[in-house]
Amino acid sequence: MYTQRVLSGMRPTGRLHLGHYHGVLKNWVRLQSEYECLFFVADWHALTTHYDDPSVVENNVWEMVVDWLAAGINPNQTTLFVQSKVPEHAELHLLLSMCTPLGWLERVPSFKDQQDKIKDKDLSTYGFLGYPLLQAADILMYRADQVPVGEDQVPHVEFTREIARRFNHLFGGEVDFEKKALEASKKLGGKRSRLIVELRQNFQEKGDEVSLERAKAVLQEAQNLTFDDREILYGYLEGAKRLILVEPQPLLSASSKLTGLDGMKMSKSYGNTIGMREDTDTLVSKLKRMPTDPARVRRKDPGEPEKCPVWGLHRVYSSERDLNWVKQGCNSASIGCLECKKPLIDAILSEQKKFKERARPFEEDLGIVKNIISDGCEKARELAKQTMRDVRECMKLDYS
Ligand code: TRP
Ligand code: SF4
Repeated sequence: MYTQRVLSGMRPTGRLHLGHYHGVLKNWVRLQSEYECLFFVADWHALTTHYDDPSVVENNVWEMVVDWLAAGINPNQTTLFVQSKVPEHAELHLLLSMCTPLGWLERVPSFKDQQDKIKDKDLSTYGFLGYPLLQAADILMYRADQVPVGEDQVPHVEFTREIARRFNHLFGGEVDFEKKALEASKKLGGKRSRLIVELRQNFQEKGDEVSLERAKAVLQEAQNLTFDDREILYGYLEGAKRLILVEPQPLLSASSKLTGLDGMKMSKSYGNTIGMREDTDTLVSKLKRMPTDPARVRRKDPGEPEKCPVWGLHRVYSSERDLNWVKQGCNSASIGCLECKKPLIDAILSEQKKFKERARPFEEDLGIVKNIISDGCEKARELAKQTMRDVRECMKLDYS
């Protein structure tokens, strides 16, 4: 069976917080056992807004990858890499830029939003405008089927689909398709290869859909085909143009935003975060000082969890039983706020313990992290080279 490929990236913001864990990383960890996953550090994307301060990027890259590993991302299962170490991304970005209408970029919502929001930087740059196109290159490079992203990134995936469609339309028919298909079908062995040719004829000459389905099933089951072979053979069966670039789907995670220490969404820019590897004393004191429902001035005043920032964390960390205990205890003022926070603090501490245990070997020897990334870059680069070969070929740039 062909496993779908999942790709996602994160800008290197340094150490991650619990919002990142519950909003993104937990999801990545789940995906890694269901799909072929590639996760990467979008360090060039960081430069689109931090071009004036590039010296912080390196440290942020390593700190962030340690947090990925602390979250339970398994480098034996998943390919982890750094964008700038796979320079093919830059080449694809450049080639795609040739056929990207300016208006498409200007209409991506994040372009205006960020320019309005970030006032202390000049974002009227070529690099910033090209942000979504660089992201499209990241995704299309690996022919990713699914891209797990937050809601804010969905327009970027949508944009990527449009770029793929346009590219395929402009250049897609040009690859020497028949020859490649016959080559790929040889890997199926004589018997199955002849079967494919026969079934294809039934479909293309007599319109027999059943033959098409049967042929597809044969390809699905074939173990020894690469992703590319299978794509080529699908195209061959249907007689369509070869799809050079694959349109990805956004994969929205169900998890909502985690509440920060002040009741707003947890975010570095609000200064209301709890780190994934926070110092224990700081963590406990942050949680103890966390504001509660303002109605509970005195211990005997009843409160409403819905009006309390602590509740937002309880909802993520506590069992149904504890949630009921909080609701009743708060409404009836039978528990105090510190008492209410106790099970939450314990739950967060035990989660931190797991993170710290996983992170320890990497903190002690960053060389291990660097090796993981360098292995991942090598794997990613192999895939990237295949795509670039096809892209150059269909754009007639493969001359020498
Ligand atoms: N723009 C994404 C973010 O800010 C990061 C990113 C860059 C990305 N390239 C990507 C995400 C490719 C998914 C796929 O979160
Ligand atoms: Fe918040 Fe719990 Fe205090 Fe109620 S009892 S106000 S939910 S901390």
